Amino acid sequence: HRHLLGIQNLSPVDLNLLLDRADAAVALSRQPEKKTSTLRGRTQINLFYEASTRTQSSFELAGKRLGADVMNMSVASSSVKKGETLIDTAMTLNAMRPDILIIRHAMAGAAALLAQKVGCSVVNAGDGAHEHPTQALLDALTIRRAKGDLSRLTIAICGDVLHSRVARSNILLLNTLGARVRVIAPSTLLPTGIHEMSVEVFNRMEEGLRGVDVVMMLRLQRERMAGAFVPSVREYFHLFGLDTRKLALAKEGALVMHPGPMNRGVEIASEIADGPQSVIQEQVEMGVAVRMAVMEALLDPRKSGGRA
Ligand code: CP
Repeated sequence: HRHLLGIQNLSPVDLNLLLDRADAAVALSRQPEKKTSTLRGRTQINLFYEASTRTQSSFELAGKRLGADVMNMSVASSSVKKGETLIDTAMTLNAMRPDILIIRHAMAGAAALLAQKVGCSVVNAGDGAHEHPTQALLDALTIRRAKGDLSRLTIAICGDVLHSRVARSNILLLNTLGARVRVIAPSTLLPTGIHEMSVEVFNRMEEGLRGVDVVMMLRLQRERMAGAFVPSVREYFHLFGLDTRKLALAKEGALVMHPGPMNRGVEIASEIADGPQSVIQEQVEMGVAVRMAVMEALLDPRKSGGRA
């Protein structure tokens, strides 16, 4: 079975094929009749151990638009609450013969672990601070549609990089497609291995934002900071929050992105999130299309040149 566990092993050709297929899914999703029958008769299970608005709902809509039968496992009211393990839950669902399992879990490596156990395709919808590959794909699609070839662009990823699977997947994908990647964060919110990741590192927004084509903000993940450094929100916004003054340092017409959920007034000012340079709603739209492209590529490889 074919899986999407991370960006790590995808080539530029793989990525561009997925983005091209997603472009076609955007066109389909903008028509009144949005359904195809590509995955008719296939069964998709969404298994989300962590909260989600965008990822879970867009995977559900993507499956439905492809004609699949989609089941959302409600973890909060499942036997997980009685102590059932991740593997036992997954094997129980596996016995119902799904074709594809979408998993979000707080533990890095959870999706790869399931992929070894179950007899169907697995998609990583976010595993701890490790990877969130479909988020990186939808971000790349949003950027490509607005600005063209990524290899000509400089992209700044700003904020809580340490806890961010979104940042990690984006750094891998943007580097693979030849973009120049900067990260801007306080040193306390950078992972130790950041200097081995082919990025330019800045500790001040005023330096890192100069001349960039895209400003990608990250949510301050205070729920993952138990006992560690928890900055004061006021100070964080002053130093690292994206406001009009800081955005003016980026290239004219630079895109403003945020994967969501946003903390308005913490990492991004409301007038920027809702302003003319923001493509945050486009990112959400691209999310459905990218997830259609990924599931089609995994389950119906003929449609994607046999690659995933
Ligand atoms: N961007 C993202 O993963 O959002 P959700 O947590 O709402 O799915």
